[in-house]
Amino acid sequence: MTFDLTKILRPHILNLVPYSSARDEYTGKEGIFLDANENPYQSVNGQHWNRYPDPYQWAIKQKLAPIKGVRPTQIFLGNGSDEPIDLLVRATCTPREDNMLLMPPTYGMYQVSADINDVPVIKVPLTSDFQIDTSKVLAALTPKTKIVWICSPNNPSGNLVQREAILEILNNFQGLVVVDEAYIDFASEPSFTQELDNYPNLIVLQTFSKAWGLASLRLGMCFASEEIIKVLNKIKPPYNLSGATQQLLFEALDYVETKKQLVNDILAEREHLRTNLADLPLVKKIYPSDSNFLLVEFDDASGVMQYLIDQKIIVRDRSKVILCDGCLRITVGTAEENKTLLETLKAFAIMA
Ligand SMILES: Cc1ncc(COP(=O)(O)O)c(C=O)c1O
Repeated sequence: MTFDLTKILRPHILNLVPYSSARDEYTGKEGIFLDANENPYQSVNGQHWNRYPDPYQWAIKQKLAPIKGVRPTQIFLGNGSDEPIDLLVRATCTPREDNMLLMPPTYGMYQVSADINDVPVIKVPLTSDFQIDTSKVLAALTPKTKIVWICSPNNPSGNLVQREAILEILNNFQGLVVVDEAYIDFASEPSFTQELDNYPNLIVLQTFSKAWGLASLRLGMCFASEEIIKVLNKIKPPYNLSGATQQLLFEALDYVETKKQLVNDILAEREHLRTNLADLPLVKKIYPSDSNFLLVEFDDASGVMQYLIDQKIIVRDRSKVILCDGCLRITVGTAEENKTLLETLKAFAIMA
């Protein structure tokens, strides 16, 4: 399969002259900086946020690249994963003309991004065990399909998608294949980042919001070919990550071992929660999970949901979502939180 990015990009994006920021034109650190209309003294709080940050976050990318086994030029960092999701749609899909393919039930932002950008969506539902229906997906693609979105581990089902199915789509589709790996740190399989040099149409999304515990900083990662990363850099807001965010992330990258420990703790709690939930008669089914949450089918999902809310325990009601009838999505909490959840569910069972 030959992949030609110029055929995938919207023509005006291909020819776009990007905004050139002061920090694009001179990248040295030393000097008297009178180029960006900054305050030369300090910030009002006495700190030093008065200078614009590095638009491309090179210090972070140098540190992150060996952790992820990619080259710094294969990394784009965004304000959450939502930013690269939106940029990818805007770079490739002409509104009302091009389309993208989703496999419900899946993460809601792909559809929302399509709707914001007025881009039609082709939906090919996952199978009942939340795997890709590869032949249906390949048959549904049109010459106007620019992106196929795959979420693995999938939200809200929690499972990894079969590797062979993803490879089959990569091999047979000439548009972009985005594999969203927001939950990959909780999974037992390796990331698709290791396939980047084999597939020029592959894009992998990850996030610092889950395993790294940095959701509030809003930090999403996008890994792809240098060519694709250059396009994202061209169309992003010039300073999309603040200096404060960059500093905090740079420091956090020293704590890879702590991240692994947190993941281990969450995985142990996930198993504990699973076995205890399985003992409850009101639980009908617990789906296999490769993430930090469980999709759980209840006899009376709306009754359970309401009772939990009354007790100030908030889970996610997925019972109206395709293939998720009667299901609630439960994030694995701390040992204490999970204990309270289990006790509350037992109390509901006695009452019901
Ligand atoms: C599959 C998936 N992708 C992306 C995200 C969002 O990540 P971020 O916080 O980086 O925007 C989520 C959040 O729940 C998610 O479930």
